[in-house]
Amino acid sequence: MTRDELRKHLNFYQDLGVDEIYLRPISSPDSVEGATLTATTAIPSLAPEGDTLLKIRQDIGDDCRRCRLCEARSKIVFGSGNEQSSLVFVGEGPGADEDAQGFPFVGRAGQLLTQMIENTASKEGIPIRRPDVYICNVVKCRPPENRTPQPDEMEICGQFLFRQLMAIRPKAICAMGSTAAKALLGTKEGVTKLRGKWHKWRDIQVMVTYHPSYLLRPYNQDAKREAWEDLKKVLHFVYD
Ligand code: URA
Repeated sequence: MTRDELRKHLNFYQDLGVDEIYLRPISSPDSVEGATLTATTAIPSLAPEGDTLLKIRQDIGDDCRRCRLCEARSKIVFGSGNEQSSLVFVGEGPGADEDAQGFPFVGRAGQLLTQMIENTASKEGIPIRRPDVYICNVVKCRPPENRTPQPDEMEICGQFLFRQLMAIRPKAICAMGSTAAKALLGTKEGVTKLRGKWHKWRDIQVMVTYHPSYLLRPYNQDAKREAWEDLKKVLHFVYD
């Protein structure tokens, strides 16, 4: 990485509210000041020391203009639920209802998600309700026409998602749909291949499953059954 690239990188994190980052020791003894920094330079620890959801929300600001999604959004949808939860659900981005209300998963897909969480937990004898988990999205502003977020939008807003996850430090994350899976696992592999197995984001267990909107389509009965299986696995892992 050149000095100029490094400066841009640091400015980017500063803009996100990260004031301090730490360099792990550079492995090559030849890397001295003034030389080009090698790829072994580990950049961010991403989150400021003692980061909190409140600080992250403040860093986003009330009128975030970091990407083009600001142009059509009404409300920034940060996240909701138990901020100390051991389980975080991550979706793609707000839809029309979420954009209007400012909370994630409050439309039809959200109602299904609530049912899935509460019915599965109740059947499995796990005493949790939706407010006991934390729910958020990869991007915090509604993409026009509910299109899939673009890579640069995911990258910019994804840094806030990462800070949210590091601040909460759940025991497990449930990534719903391919956008969440891609943001957390950096893979282009589809949900069908990834679902039902444990993956990792940093040192946190990640279960990938279908997005509730996909399950709302009438012909996806098999996927519905599989999503229930995935959820059972997550709930038992977290709450047993
Ligand atoms: N779909 C999402 O991915 N997130 C929401 O908040 C609502 C619908």
